[in-house]
Amino acid sequence: MAISYQTPNTTSDDYVATAQIGTAPAKYERVVHGFSMQPYQCGVLSGYQHHVNITGLQGGTKYFYRVGSDVYGWSPQYHFTTGPSGPQNTSFIFYGDMGVEYSDASIKLIEDMVSKDEVDFLVHNGDISYADNLYYDRNGTGYLDWMDTFYDNIRGFATTMPIMFAPGNHEWPCDMAEYKRRQAMMPSHDAGSWNSSNWYAHTFGQIRMISLSGENGELQDNTTPQFKWLKQQLRIALVDKEAGRISWIFTHSHYMRQPTGYCTYDYGQPSSTDPTEICCVENCNQTSFQKEVEDLFVQYHVDVHFTSHEHVYERTYPVYRYKKVWGLMS
Ligand SMILES: [Fe+2]
Repeated sequence: MAISYQTPNTTSDDYVATAQIGTAPAKYERVVHGFSMQPYQCGVLSGYQHHVNITGLQGGTKYFYRVGSDVYGWSPQYHFTTGPSGPQNTSFIFYGDMGVEYSDASIKLIEDMVSKDEVDFLVHNGDISYADNLYYDRNGTGYLDWMDTFYDNIRGFATTMPIMFAPGNHEWPCDMAEYKRRQAMMPSHDAGSWNSSNWYAHTFGQIRMISLSGENGELQDNTTPQFKWLKQQLRIALVDKEAGRISWIFTHSHYMRQPTGYCTYDYGQPSSTDPTEICCVENCNQTSFQKEVEDLFVQYHVDVHFTSHEHVYERTYPVYRYKKVWGLMS
């Protein structure tokens, strides 16, 4: 479990990222140190970003923790429950496109479900906070201030529940620096680097989740490193599924057609002719790459592919080449 938190940019340079953790309230059995990222300028000067990676935890166990230090003060006590040790029924909330505005009802719903132990983890599939829009709409207001406001708003569940993030088009200011800083502890597709979190795979209970990124052309064709990695991950996932180590293979990407997918509602560019932007309803122009990815999803028994970006809820029957199919269900 990784715990990430910020302190103000006035924090002393000798501050050491620290978490105390234990299995009983206020009885912290372990002290774990992490690493800190220096403030940087993106509209305004950011705070320090701290990350503490806690290993050796027991599955299915409730832990209490706090972050901080004796010198600079401690956070309130929070708690989380680790995921199951093996394949068990697993529930998660999947959403994308959540911002500072228009999110009160969604945040309240997630808080309620988390407080009732109805879910095991969360996925935020890109477009995190829309602080970039607020920056430009209210000229002179700091981008990072709005980003902080968003993370404060989700504190009620983000301190309690693992959240997996994927990048979207609203993470672009300052060369996606803020995503790279705050999501630095997402699993890496490159074991030698912590700062390669745009795409990754992880297992939670009986679910293998493969998180993809359509940013910066990272998945624009079959020559990209991410596509080669995706094929390898799908092969591994199917082996694990057939061996009974997992029951489900899920994939997700922020965009409805990058690399592939279906939707009926065009939020952004209904007049676009870009096959990666417009929705795919029937007789659509799938690119050869979109067909190749769709074939891979079928070949390796992907159960559900999730997308976001369109700000609506839709789901389909199993679909192949824009037609409903049944025989390919696994
Ligand atoms: Fe988006």
